Amino acid sequence: MEHWIDKIDAADSLEELESIRIAIFGKKGELARAFADMKNVPAEEKPKVAKELNLLKHSLTQAFEKRKATLEAKALEERLKAEALDVSLYTPRPQSGALHPVMQTMDRIIEYFTDLNFAVETGPLVEDEFHNFEALNLPDYHPARDMQDTFYFKDGKLLRTHTSPVQIRTMMEQKPPIRMISPGAVFRRDFDLTHTPQFHQVEGLMVDRKGNVSFANLKWILEDFLHTMFGEVDIRFRPSFFPFTEPSAEVDISCIFCEGKGCRVCSHTGWLEVLGCGMVDPNVFKAVGYEDVSGYAFGLGVERFAMLIHKIPDLRSLFEGDLRLLEQFQ
Ligand code: DAH
Repeated sequence: MEHWIDKIDAADSLEELESIRIAIFGKKGELARAFADMKNVPAEEKPKVAKELNLLKHSLTQAFEKRKATLEAKALEERLKAEALDVSLYTPRPQSGALHPVMQTMDRIIEYFTDLNFAVETGPLVEDEFHNFEALNLPDYHPARDMQDTFYFKDGKLLRTHTSPVQIRTMMEQKPPIRMISPGAVFRRDFDLTHTPQFHQVEGLMVDRKGNVSFANLKWILEDFLHTMFGEVDIRFRPSFFPFTEPSAEVDISCIFCEGKGCRVCSHTGWLEVLGCGMVDPNVFKAVGYEDVSGYAFGLGVERFAMLIHKIPDLRSLFEGDLRLLEQFQ
């Protein structure tokens, strides 16, 4: 019966091993028969035959358990292999949103000034003539009012045409010194290739005791700011006019498209206008009741900054919500 040990060792699967087990150890199996045959063994040989039989049973059991363990381990391994999940498999991810490039630019501008301890102030979008015009030295008859085509409401209120009225509100609420910026939406009756009825500005204002704030301070901070935003560009201050500043200047950077050589974007001048600024006009201080102070102010358009920083050629593409553009800003 020893050949059964070879059969056990050769069993290839748990099923095959099970049929061998039944054939050996089952009720009608080889061992049962061998033990039953004992009745034919002469009495004097019985102890010897019984002992041999028991030893054989022991060896068969051991061989069986060993083979069973091996086959079970093999089966487990095969199952794990068959049921394994490929976690490296590519699945499309849900798309995540991102801030609009105009708001990203706004955040960069705000961050520059808050790092220098400028406070962020806000004001209402629906303004009155006093804050939007009069207190900013733009009286009724002033021709510069026409520069800002205004949306009026029936009650005489209006959609603010710039963020400058927040200067007025802040100065009327707080005592000097003031160091603030005011980011937000503004509105004008204007719609063409380079103008939209709503856009965004950031206004800046610094006021301190007379003599403590100079044009040199203004020049320094705007140059540092523009280098932070646009990198190594040339900067020039050009005399200009705003009713709320005296003297006033417009600030240009060397064209980032042609590096100052002259191209269509800069109308072949080599320069791009990026903001307006000046020393706060005495009439503005008078309107808010400030005395013995000096200050500078500046204002800029955020869409224009975003277009120049990202070299976006058409203003309207910032409002169309085209994902092919927006996905580049994630
Ligand atoms: N308010 C001006 C505009 O909307 C921008 C501006 C220019 C603001 C010069 C200022 C400034 O504070 O000093 O076009």
